[in-house]
Amino acid sequence: MNHQTIIVLDFGSQYTQLIARRLRELSIYSEVWAPDTAAEKIRSRQPAGIILSGGPRSVSEAGAPKCDPAVFDVGVPVLGICYGMQLMADTLGGTVEPAPSREFGHATVSVTARDDSAALFVNVPEEIRVWASHGDFVAAAPAGFSVIATSANAPIAAMSNPQRSLYALLFHPEVVHTDRGLEILRNFAYGICGCTGDWTMASFVEEATARVRARVGEGRVVCALSGGVDSTVAALIVHRAVGHKLTCIFVDNGVLRLNEAAQVRKRFERLSLPLVFVDASGIFLERLEGVTDPEKKRKIIGATFIDVFEAEAAKLGRVDFLAQGTLYPDVIESVPIVGQAALIKSHHNVGGLPERMRMKLVEPLRELFKDEVRVVGRKLGLEDEFVDRQPFPGPGLAVRILGEITEDRLRLLRRADAVVAEEVKREGWYTRLWQSFAVLLPVQSVGVMGDERTYEYTVAIRAVESRDGMTADWARLPHDLLARISSRIVNEVKGINRVVYDISSKPPSTIEWE
Ligand code: XMP
Repeated sequence: MNHQTIIVLDFGSQYTQLIARRLRELSIYSEVWAPDTAAEKIRSRQPAGIILSGGPRSVSEAGAPKCDPAVFDVGVPVLGICYGMQLMADTLGGTVEPAPSREFGHATVSVTARDDSAALFVNVPEEIRVWASHGDFVAAAPAGFSVIATSANAPIAAMSNPQRSLYALLFHPEVVHTDRGLEILRNFAYGICGCTGDWTMASFVEEATARVRARVGEGRVVCALSGGVDSTVAALIVHRAVGHKLTCIFVDNGVLRLNEAAQVRKRFERLSLPLVFVDASGIFLERLEGVTDPEKKRKIIGATFIDVFEAEAAKLGRVDFLAQGTLYPDVIESVPIVGQAALIKSHHNVGGLPERMRMKLVEPLRELFKDEVRVVGRKLGLEDEFVDRQPFPGPGLAVRILGEITEDRLRLLRRADAVVAEEVKREGWYTRLWQSFAVLLPVQSVGVMGDERTYEYTVAIRAVESRDGMTADWARLPHDLLARISSRIVNEVKGINRVVYDISSKPPSTIEWE
């Protein structure tokens, strides 16, 4: 089960995880490690290669993250990208300086070598468009290095020392805007590190199943289902491994979307997964009564979930393990990206469970990125429509009803939200968007319907494009689509007489309204 691995040391670039994901697309297992990991620890893992990521700092700045200098002598190939290149040059005796013209965005690079030193550029044309993002550059390469590519603003756009198997790029091959970027990473992984591509989702499923079986033994497992893709796929793998020793618990918290609870039940029936379905909507709504503060809503929902789940799990008798759909991005020890460390909203779904319940964890997806989980989900029989669904927050519609949550308001929002989903899907926009949904505002306004004056609620439509939810732009939905959504909501949902479209990006706004 020991896969050839490329270790990515993370110096804080927004693209670090993307490097690992691209390698995995190339069927190479890759992990993201802390930037200052000791070279000895890296060596003992016997990686096939090491990549130094980009990063927002200057190597000469006080406190800039550094790697163990012995990383260059581990005896496996090293590729430095952007900051990683500058760090390589600085550590090995080259010079790094502020570039006279900083490069952010598209740049054109010319490959200037075709011999052994340019193994990174096999099958790459002489001139390529690349994605650059740097203020500093390498003014002089360290002794033993040759320059293998150049650009207008950076005389050393790439360098290498093939004798020591050290390679470096000033631009980002992991970003789609770099022509042949994947080819360059393939050259490094296959051509230079000698990887053979032994990481596939089919082998993952077999291995993950065997690992869960070995860990659980004769124990019993309970799985906290959120209704989303991750916990469902985790449950499928655990079920494959231990069969009836698994029990899944799904809690209806009263703030789910239209028909969502019924769909979860049907899906689990179809997959023959053992499910305990708990309708706790009464308790949740009772505790949320009169609450308008968004953080309070989140806390109440988080705490109530734990209470309900614990009570249900207790009915099962002795349970030894808790299965969760934790993903790789949650377990990476990364340098926080500058400016993103502040807590804006507390995102707790099942956060407090493991400590409270004193159960051992089973996390079969701990090694996977979201796109890999989707592939596994399809392999295990989940329908595309579910696997490709947009993220939905743990506190559900509670953070999409501004002000107090009542049965009546929930009814309005559920129906309006269903219209948005239907229309967005019909037009083929659903999978292009990160999220699209309706928000119920605590605002009533005057309208006219037939000959009657109305005084009813307003719904805001939110549709955003995003890579990871950290930043987002409002989607330029066609006017016809917006018109249909608006007219259907006002006609079909009695109690709403006005629809507005949210044209705020994140930052400064957030995706959810609460
Ligand atoms: P914001 O609103 O912070 O949302 O821009 C970013 C992403 O996170 C989701 N979100 C949550 N997910 N619990 C969750 O599980 C929460 O409390 C929560 N709040 C926001 C949101 O849907 C978006 O995808």
